[in-house]
Amino acid sequence: MSDVEPWARQVHDARSPYPAHAHWLEIGWAVRHRFRGQGYATEIGRAGLVFAFDVLGARAVVSCTLRHNDRSRAVMERLGMRLAGEIASRGLVEGAVREQDDAPYVVHVLLRHEWPG
Ligand SMILES: CC(C)(COP(=O)(O)OP(=O)(O)OC[C@H]1O[C@@H](n2cnc3c(N)ncnc32)[C@H](O)[C@@H]1OP(=O)(O)O)[C@@H](O)C(=O)NCCC(=O)NCCS
Repeated sequence: MSDVEPWARQVHDARSPYPAHAHWLEIGWAVRHRFRGQGYATEIGRAGLVFAFDVLGARAVVSCTLRHNDRSRAVMERLGMRLAGEIASRGLVEGAVREQDDAPYVVHVLLRHEWPG
């Protein structure tokens, strides 16, 4: 995204408590076991997209999850978020018992003009 969208690298004016991206936001979800399989996470994600694009005016929204988290990836796909690539960050590698620094995460993105609203 950042090669063709230079604004993706711009940071927010206020760098406290941590540097934040000026034009894009990240969303995520977690649902208790007994509420899974009913579309609540997708509803949470859609509400996040509405807030990010329509209220906060974001140019893009991203969502990241461990590569093997098929349930979360399915939510991203239901929301129309497309795979943008992978990053390495601290987390659980599939099958491992301890977290490590370079676990593979997928990054999905939706640009404002791709958002049906
Ligand atoms: C990731 C997580 C939130 C996904 O939960 P989920 O229940 O699979 O997702 P949803 O709530 O969107 O439900 C989707 C299911 O409901 C069904 N569904 C029913 N009504 C629906 C509706 N109105 N809209 C969408 N889906 C609906 C879908 O067909 C799908 O069914 P399936 O399970 O047979 O594929 C859940 O696995 C979780 O909390 N995991 C632990 C936390 C986590 O990993 N979070 C992500 C970290 S990045």
